[in-house]
Amino acid sequence: MEIINLRQRMMSVARQIRREGNRTIGFVPTMGALHAGHLSLVQAARARCDVVVVSVFVNPAQFGPEEDFASYPRDLTHDSALLDEFKVDYVFAPAVAEIYPQGFSTYLTVEGLSDGLEGAARPGHFRGVTTVVALLLNLVRPDFAFFGQKDAQQAIVIKQMIRDLAFDSEVVILPTARTESGLALSSRNNYLDDEQRKAATVLYRSLSRAAAEYDNGERKAERLIEAVKATVNTEPLARIDYVSLNDAETLEQLDELGDRPALISMAAFIGKTRLIDNAVLGKAKKQDASGAGF
Ligand code: PAJ
Repeated sequence: MEIINLRQRMMSVARQIRREGNRTIGFVPTMGALHAGHLSLVQAARARCDVVVVSVFVNPAQFGPEEDFASYPRDLTHDSALLDEFKVDYVFAPAVAEIYPQGFSTYLTVEGLSDGLEGAARPGHFRGVTTVVALLLNLVRPDFAFFGQKDAQQAIVIKQMIRDLAFDSEVVILPTARTESGLALSSRNNYLDDEQRKAATVLYRSLSRAAAEYDNGERKAERLIEAVKATVNTEPLARIDYVSLNDAETLEQLDELGDRPALISMAAFIGKTRLIDNAVLGKAKKQDASGAGF
């Protein structure tokens, strides 16, 4: 496994692999502090592609001024050891100045899809995500790029960007990896103490409650959202930021669920830590590999 720090080296390695013409490249962009959710993407890339590239870059452009860029967990030594175990070929771990050198001034925005949900709660967030992902895709030019359903809106926004701008990469979305108690794995879970970690399972429990009501025939968005809110409100350490029901592809806000899959998504604070989670309602059961009951 080679750890690459420079754009130029990343580009030339990827170009060389493409020139050989007979090996596919799988790419997993991450911000590090790797957990089993990230590693499930790495495993999928390893299974599907000849060469696997993982980026580890805490991207300042996607953090708001009051957010946790400075305190975001970083441990490249540990991350690299894990990625080596998972038979990754290249880790791209650039410094901030390598990605955003002085004078960097080109930003990319997917309009519409970036505006609601996380985009509304975190202004500028998706502009930062799409800018860095576009840049990384240009460096690596992968055949397949792997993303997690945990960040459902991010996956939708990136898919749109790839379609619109004809990036030559296919997006693969993997289900949310969870602890046994249902908590979605997240690097930000590192901020939680034991009591908060227990409290944080209320996100999954609340989404499960909505999924159960959906299975019982409830189709009114307001009722399903209420089911989530009522469950979260039983947990004194949790404070809801938003709960929303949207079309799972267009993100159009829904009053009433129809035939198309719907995304129920939420953000909540546990103490100072902001966590997100989601479930897809009305997805064909046999495609549901989340193992989480959604
Ligand atoms: P990060 O939060 O490190 O996540 C990297 C990838 O892992 C994303 O595709 C995310 O959806 C996926 N992931 C995170 N938790 C997961 C879980 N519990 N189960 C399955 N997949 C999970 O998302 C980012 O970084 C950044 O925005 C990035 C795309 C790297 C751009 O900076």
